[in-house]
Amino acid sequence: MSTKPRIMDPLPRAEDKFEPALRPRTLDELIGQEKVKQNLAILVAAARQRGEPLDHVLFYGPPGLGKTTLAHILANEMGVNIKVTSGPAIERQGDLAAILSNLNQGDVLFIDEIHRLGKAVEEVLYPAMEDFALDIVIGKGPSARAIRLMLPRLTVIGATTRLALLTSPLRARFGATFRLDYYGNTDMLAILERASGQLGMQVANGSLELIARRTRGTPRVALRLLRRVRDYADVRGTGVITKDMANEALNLLEVDELGLDELDRRVLRAIIEKYGGGPVGLNTIAASVSEEADTIMDVVEPYLMQLGFLERRSQGRVATPQACAHLDLPYPGESLAPTLF
Ligand SMILES: Nc1ncnc2c1ncn2[C@@H]1O[C@H](COP(=O)(O)OP(=O)(O)O)[C@@H](O)[C@H]1O
Ligand SMILES: [Mg+2]
Repeated sequence: MSTKPRIMDPLPRAEDKFEPALRPRTLDELIGQEKVKQNLAILVAAARQRGEPLDHVLFYGPPGLGKTTLAHILANEMGVNIKVTSGPAIERQGDLAAILSNLNQGDVLFIDEIHRLGKAVEEVLYPAMEDFALDIVIGKGPSARAIRLMLPRLTVIGATTRLALLTSPLRARFGATFRLDYYGNTDMLAILERASGQLGMQVANGSLELIARRTRGTPRVALRLLRRVRDYADVRGTGVITKDMANEALNLLEVDELGLDELDRRVLRAIIEKYGGGPVGLNTIAASVSEEADTIMDVVEPYLMQLGFLERRSQGRVATPQACAHLDLPYPGESLAPTLF
């Protein structure tokens, strides 16, 4: 399978390490997602008024849109500590029990990729979320007995790219669930303006707009593209980000006007050229472009669907006429269209 790093990959990378400085710290600083922000502001204000910990909150949506950022913001707004872990990192019940028993009143436990928690571990989480209790079994066999330890009142914040993989008992234990969606161009521009300002970059008129349109509505991608354009302008130009510099840098990275990269185009081409436009199954597509099915499902498809380039049907994936037009390919479906005499 291909492991070639992609510029448009919205998953975090070590090289994104300059990001913590740019991460918004408060709800007010966070750009976009207005509905989610308003709801969270009420949740926070209500909890604070009552002097209670925040209700458990679940965020879902494609990678790179601000789920982790929002978890940190909520802890910050509540003035509590946050402990960060992830579904795959908690292997045994004891691991979660140890984390839970080290939290203080009101603390946030952030569980990233919460859909990947093991069944047994998840069962420890239920009473912790519902009754703030830890049920542990002492001893083995007939002499085993269960005791219940009380925990401080904590807040669990979960994040997932795959809401459908969450079990319903786990979903039901969250007091509030929010979906994060791709950002519009205006929000992306504001995010780029804020970041370029914080990084002290010199930016000519119109160049951030040009970048914003190619960020596929994803802040993490936007920040990475900004850094790449800055590199390019430093090396090939005078360090000033102009429209030409931005355009040349992004063309060199093979990011097109709609923010599609080489993998997005390869996926569409495979469906159109090898499978007559579809329907074709996800695993077949994955094999023919030598990429993980998960990457295609979590990262490539949501954006292509948002653009109206791809449809997920029960028989498989279908490329739309708009996708063909964008790639300058004939629409294979046309030959099947009824001809009028
Ligand atoms: N609304 C936003 N405004 C500004 N920056 C943002 C916003 N949302 C996300 N970011 C930035 O984008 C990057 C990815 O966000 P993150 O919360 O890690 O995404 P996720 O957890 O959903 O994958 C971070 O560097 C974060 O600072
Ligand atoms: Mg995250």
